[in-house]
Amino acid sequence: MALLDIKKAGKPVLKQVCVPVERIDKSLKKLLDDMAETMYESDGIGIAAPQVGETLRMVVMDCQDDHGLIELINPVITYREGSAVDTEGCLSVPNIFGEVERAEKVKVEFLNRRGKIQHLTATGLLARCIQHELDHLDGQLFIDCSGFRGLLIEQALETGYEDWTHWLPCDRAVAVPCEGTGEITPYTRSTARGAGWQWRIPLQ
Ligand code: NI
Repeated sequence: MALLDIKKAGKPVLKQVCVPVERIDKSLKKLLDDMAETMYESDGIGIAAPQVGETLRMVVMDCQDDHGLIELINPVITYREGSAVDTEGCLSVPNIFGEVERAEKVKVEFLNRRGKIQHLTATGLLARCIQHELDHLDGQLFIDCSGFRGLLIEQALETGYEDWTHWLPCDRAVAVPCEGTGEITPYTRSTARGAGWQWRIPLQ
């Protein structure tokens, strides 16, 4: 096994839509092994193939629960229920944490390394991790979908991320005042510059 280099935010590979795995061969299994080793070594609970530079629809995760190590090949979320907001981080975005709204429960269909179709129902942290990792396969980082903009910029500058402008969230984002119950407005570059705003992506 080998440790792989984890790509950090700003690398184009993290913005690409990954392609389905077509053949599960020896080299693909080695990649799965290496991804798991890299995840454990980095104290992460999940890693997606694009984070190690491979644009394949494949993730590994271990939320330190009864499931242990889970390998998902060509995963698809088939069911979502409820919503929950919690703090997330990402190995590709070190030292930055932000609140993200996710479905509370998901069902996912995927192939295991023997090419067998599997189904998994997840809630809580595992459900969150699945949604976070599957976003990676579509070129989405958690900082693209929620967080506290002002804090993000501050932390980004502190940790040497000068190019934080590409972190502007998607069209569905809304700006919410940090304090009080002021009006929710569409999120734009000008609200991004104003202090005292958080941005959040409502679930579709
Ligand atoms: Ni991540």
